[in-house]
Amino acid sequence: NWTMDSFIDKEIDRIRSVVGESGSVVGAVSGGVDSTVAAVLMKRAIGDRFHAVLVDNGVMRLNECQQVKETLGSSLGINLRVVDSSELFLSRLKGVTDPEKKRKIIGNAFIEVFESEAHKIDAECEASGSGKIEFLLQGTLYPDVIESISFKGPSATIKSHHNVGGLLEDMRLKLIEPLRELFKDEVRSLGLLLGIPDDLIWRHPFPGPGIAIRVLGEVTPEQVEIARNADYIYIEEIKKAGLYKKISQAYAALLPVRSVGVMGDMRTYEQVIALRAVETTDFMTADWFEFPPTILKRISNRIINEVRGVNRVVYDISSKPPSTIEWE
Ligand code: XMP
Repeated sequence: NWTMDSFIDKEIDRIRSVVGESGSVVGAVSGGVDSTVAAVLMKRAIGDRFHAVLVDNGVMRLNECQQVKETLGSSLGINLRVVDSSELFLSRLKGVTDPEKKRKIIGNAFIEVFESEAHKIDAECEASGSGKIEFLLQGTLYPDVIESISFKGPSATIKSHHNVGGLLEDMRLKLIEPLRELFKDEVRSLGLLLGIPDDLIWRHPFPGPGIAIRVLGEVTPEQVEIARNADYIYIEEIKKAGLYKKISQAYAALLPVRSVGVMGDMRTYEQVIALRAVETTDFMTADWFEFPPTILKRISNRIINEVRGVNRVVYDISSKPPSTIEWE
């Protein structure tokens, strides 16, 4: 893969010449492939002068925060700090049921937390005599560049958590986007060459608002916990069955309804988990995934037995369009 090899060398040289001998760079990471590849490139180019920030918004997947810490921080050696803001996000989500309001709340809280962390890092850099923060790293890909030029429709809300214009202005930061000429498959091969673990490279996309838009209706810590545990079991079984790479995106959603069930000689009245799995190349259109029935059976049994509060599991057989991939 000589093209990607030479891309790495050229891009590292370019980053070094743009950032210079003393400047520092800040960037948010999510554990997704784009932000991770961008972060590893920065680390290779300027070492610890790149400061990565992971904002724990309380609606990430089970164990995900810990995993990102281990992979990016310990294994890949990135100068990473994790800001636990779960309480802030969850308290602002209290009582909110409208999907777009949830997105807005999470997007705004993210910018607020990230901005305040960037100021802290800047002050620390100044105090320790290392260069001030001059750049903001973004893992923007070529399709994102095109999209933001060509259409100002719903994508403006989809990418709203990336809207850090205020930060750029306020701190007079310049944007640095090492992936802006690459497509997703190129970013993946680049990531593999940079030594990023396989499971991170092939991770399904995860929306910025996370589990908050997969808990339908009001988001409470208890509801997040149910959705999170069901999702973990679902993904674990998909991986065990060797289907993870075949599926483009899969997740469990918690529906805001109760249904009657029976357990022993007791009547139950509990919640419903909806499983979603789709195959797609561009996420603009998608087909629902045809699971072998035995696998669905195992997943359903495990979720109902292991996740307290759930007595029914349903499988979503809707294609996009007209249905979207997310339920909210
Ligand atoms: P839909 O639900 O519109 O999703 O078919 C298409 C793709 O976009 C992801 N998605 C989001 N990603 N913030 C994100 O970062 C969002 O608010 C958001 N909403 C949807 C979704 O997971 C799917 O991959």
